[in-house]
Amino acid sequence: MSDRAQVVGSIGMESQGDNPTSEPCVMVIFGASGDLTKRLLVPALYNLACDDLLSKNFAVLGTGRSEITDDEFRESMSSEENGLRGFHTRNEFDEPACDELMSRFHFVPGGLDDPENYKNMKKKVDELNEKFQAKGNVLFYFAMAPRFFGMICDHLYKAGFQSGEGWRRIIVEKPFGTDLESALELNKAILANWREDQIFRVDHYLGKETVQNLLAFRFSNGMFEPLWNKDNIDNIQFNVCESVDVGERGGYYDSSGVLRDMMQNHMFQMLAYLCMEVPGSFEPDSIRNEKAKLLESVRIYDEDSVPENIVRGQYGPSFTDDGEVDQPGYRQSTDVNPESSTETFVAAKFQIDNWRWEGVPIYLRSGKALWKRGTEIVVEFKKPPQQIFKGTSVENLTANRLVFHVQPYQAIELLFQAKIPGPTLQLQNVDMEFNYGDNFKASRYTGYEVMIYSCTHGDATLFSRGDLVEAAWRIAQPIMDYWSENPAKDFPNYTRNSWGPKSANDLIEKDGRRWFEVVTPDVLEQLPLFEGADPLLLNSIIMALHADAAEAGEVIIQQGDMAKEMYLICRGEVEVVDAGGNVLKTLKDGDFFGEVGILMSTPRTATIRAKTLCDLFVLQKSDFGRILQDHPQFAENIMKIAKERYDLAVSADELMA
Ligand code: BG6
Repeated sequence: MSDRAQVVGSIGMESQGDNPTSEPCVMVIFGASGDLTKRLLVPALYNLACDDLLSKNFAVLGTGRSEITDDEFRESMSSEENGLRGFHTRNEFDEPACDELMSRFHFVPGGLDDPENYKNMKKKVDELNEKFQAKGNVLFYFAMAPRFFGMICDHLYKAGFQSGEGWRRIIVEKPFGTDLESALELNKAILANWREDQIFRVDHYLGKETVQNLLAFRFSNGMFEPLWNKDNIDNIQFNVCESVDVGERGGYYDSSGVLRDMMQNHMFQMLAYLCMEVPGSFEPDSIRNEKAKLLESVRIYDEDSVPENIVRGQYGPSFTDDGEVDQPGYRQSTDVNPESSTETFVAAKFQIDNWRWEGVPIYLRSGKALWKRGTEIVVEFKKPPQQIFKGTSVENLTANRLVFHVQPYQAIELLFQAKIPGPTLQLQNVDMEFNYGDNFKASRYTGYEVMIYSCTHGDATLFSRGDLVEAAWRIAQPIMDYWSENPAKDFPNYTRNSWGPKSANDLIEKDGRRWFEVVTPDVLEQLPLFEGADPLLLNSIIMALHADAAEAGEVIIQQGDMAKEMYLICRGEVEVVDAGGNVLKTLKDGDFFGEVGILMSTPRTATIRAKTLCDLFVLQKSDFGRILQDHPQFAENIMKIAKERYDLAVSADELMA
């Protein structure tokens, strides 16, 4: 099953009755035997067919070097091992629908640089157009490396594909260039004989329902847009966290890195959707004008500002308890230079120099081999004045946050504070949530259905325009230049399955802010303390904790200080040190510490020092106390562990007295 499949499709997409089918056309696929075609394009066509959204006047013409017949092509496209039967995304496989779709598949062999091939192709396309009454429309899909795009466009033009009845459209896959210069050249080569309105540049993030919903959410709801500006929003964070490593893709990845692979394209698309001005209408160019304008307003960094605002990372190997390499680091991956300075992690702070966003920092973070898979956008509002709560027990107001959970969890959540029922004024963080699964019929889509469908209708909303791609490269280029002139000296600088390098925390903490780590119950349940815990308890903990990191050697708790918080170790090791400097104990992933001082309201009895880089969850004393009161079973567990650890004899009445 495709790992790009999304779990939820909107009801609208499935209500066949309401939607017209795709427009008639012959779809010519370059790179027809490649992975993308098998894993994503064919399953997407199949999903459209099953949902009655694919026109009956439709045919596919695959092309490539293999000397195969139509039947052999169909066989390979539908096979169990490496075709539709293996890669489809639906619960049940519909044999007749597959057979019907395959009967529309054809193949023409030939090399990409051979003009004869294009003449044969033209003949074949004309025949298919006639046979399937596709109104002369032709959709070319370039499912191959961008270095061929210019050449194919040229040959297609020379073979006479521009003339005749119907429309011609070209979908080109990413990456669109590898830097600003190559993107400019590519645009020039493609647009030499084709018009911009014929070119559909894919960014598969735009095919995601949750990304498309950013626009629907912003512009169909009256309550948020008036707040969407520097007066009300303190900062915005985009987080694309991947738990997968580079795997077998080292050959490609080593000359790319996360800035090119994720940020310059997918993340900038989300940034543009979230921050663009209100378009005049939902017409494709109306939206694309605003997106391009937004990216053109992002501040371009000079060589002094790059290191101040952008940090990079590369993952190292993980080790077993015996010190053996458990999983290889990036540099040990297949087809990767053993001294590679390619980044697998990036954290950046950008500024949008326009009226709406002046002074609002926009933080972006993405990496591979991290602690969880999750894409989230966090809009953090300005805090209300604390002053009004003076004389009450409310010490720290939390900022309201609007969180867009893009994937794999799909939801929109609003975090705010509520009064805890009772005679005194105490606040608790709570949330309101819209969850896709509860509201829309679950189905699995690849994300490519909507792109093929809308391209046949000439709707370019979900595709990148040339100027937008160029604007995105203009932002990335100085960063790439600085990095190639100043290779990282500290790589590898983060451990697999961690939250990334410590420098990412420093980047945001120097602004007095924190990354908002989205913790889901399944992440907490990985910690032994919460295994099988009551969902209500998990939810209270999630609402209360915040993330922090400590560098090796850093003192987290100082002996003698009064206790204000307790800690959970997500990743890393800490040492418990007594007054004489002796290490009493080492604690690691899943352990917690700092609870005794809070429980007993006594000064810290030992110093706690990070032995390695640590990713920590922190619970404030007031939240911890409240959670213990609300969840007596949890209180008992904590007490039991504390008692065993420190030989404490404490009764429930003494707790947090
Ligand atoms: C691709 C990148 O464009 O996007 C991959 O080349 C990355 O490296 C993938 O893993 C992420 O896509 P998704 O849909 O899984 O978030």
